[in-house]
Amino acid sequence: MKTSLAIPVIKTTHSKLSETDFSNLVFGKVISDHMFVADYKNGEWTDLRIEPYAPMEIHPANAALHYGQSIFEGMKAYKNDSGEILIFRGDANARRMNESAERMCMPSIPEEIFLEGLTQLVDLDRNWIPSGKGSSLYIRPFMFAMDNYIGVKPSDTYRFMIFTCPVGAYYNKPVSVKVETQFTRATEGGTGAAKTAGNYAASLYPALQAQKAGYDQLLWTDGKSHSKIEESGTMNVMFKINGTLITAPTHTGTILKGITRDSVIQLAKDWSEPLEERFLTVSELHQALENGSLQEAFGVGTAATIAFINKIHVNGKDYTLAESSQDSFGKRILKELDGIKYGEIADPHQWIIKI
Ligand code: COI
Repeated sequence: MKTSLAIPVIKTTHSKLSETDFSNLVFGKVISDHMFVADYKNGEWTDLRIEPYAPMEIHPANAALHYGQSIFEGMKAYKNDSGEILIFRGDANARRMNESAERMCMPSIPEEIFLEGLTQLVDLDRNWIPSGKGSSLYIRPFMFAMDNYIGVKPSDTYRFMIFTCPVGAYYNKPVSVKVETQFTRATEGGTGAAKTAGNYAASLYPALQAQKAGYDQLLWTDGKSHSKIEESGTMNVMFKINGTLITAPTHTGTILKGITRDSVIQLAKDWSEPLEERFLTVSELHQALENGSLQEAFGVGTAATIAFINKIHVNGKDYTLAESSQDSFGKRILKELDGIKYGEIADPHQWIIKI
């Protein structure tokens, strides 16, 4: 990728690379050496820079801390066998960040700043990208309010930042989920489609209750009737019933427009797999578990790619799912996506940005 924005760089004098144990990476714990920063003042993005990753000063009256004007993205960079860096669908993340920004009354970030900031940062910290299947560099772009003012109004100033973390697999085993019919992740007219901090904060208490009851995550249902499946934990969710792949549509504004979700749908269409973008009801799910027509269930997201589900709790009963075979849709799609991301097979939709 050609670079056109001149971004000043201050390099670290104390790289943490040699102290990092790449054989034991806990998701999100280890942060690479540098970060990209841009500030929004007087209606424009200024002062673009790359500097050593370090704590920063935040005023106690910072508006994001009080009222949650804060949005983020998650994406990954991979290293192929020739040492080239491949970034998966960064342009889609840039677009989605601006959709979140609009909903949260925040300024849009020009795609050029988003993509140049991240490619130059990833290029500088390229030695932090772990090699090997399942490993990658997780990229965390985020934006938050910077006004020091606790009156409730959209901030006038913002900061956009990117840092990266070398990561291994997010889930290294299948997950158990519980259908949630008391708490709500998102309602129509709310912020469910935005990747904003508050959605994740609100999910913590219900998720913790599920974990205390012995489940890894929740299957969220709609906020009005709790009768339709929406998402799973922090991921979109897909089911295969009687040979048809079913996943929730995004038009209600309650579902995050997952980029992995979109990629799986595009590949399923390429493969002419029967696919329905519609809400699966809780009773349909229960029935499919009872009569054995539920063949597969998995979460789809950037962090995990495909998170296979091995247990579902619904209407007071636990159902165990058989392990997915190698020719299951979930396993085949994971292999295909990994092949594209690691540059091993053709990239039919030009999803890869090579740097
Ligand atoms: C994803 O997998 O897409 C996520 O957003 C997970 C992240 C919140 C850790």
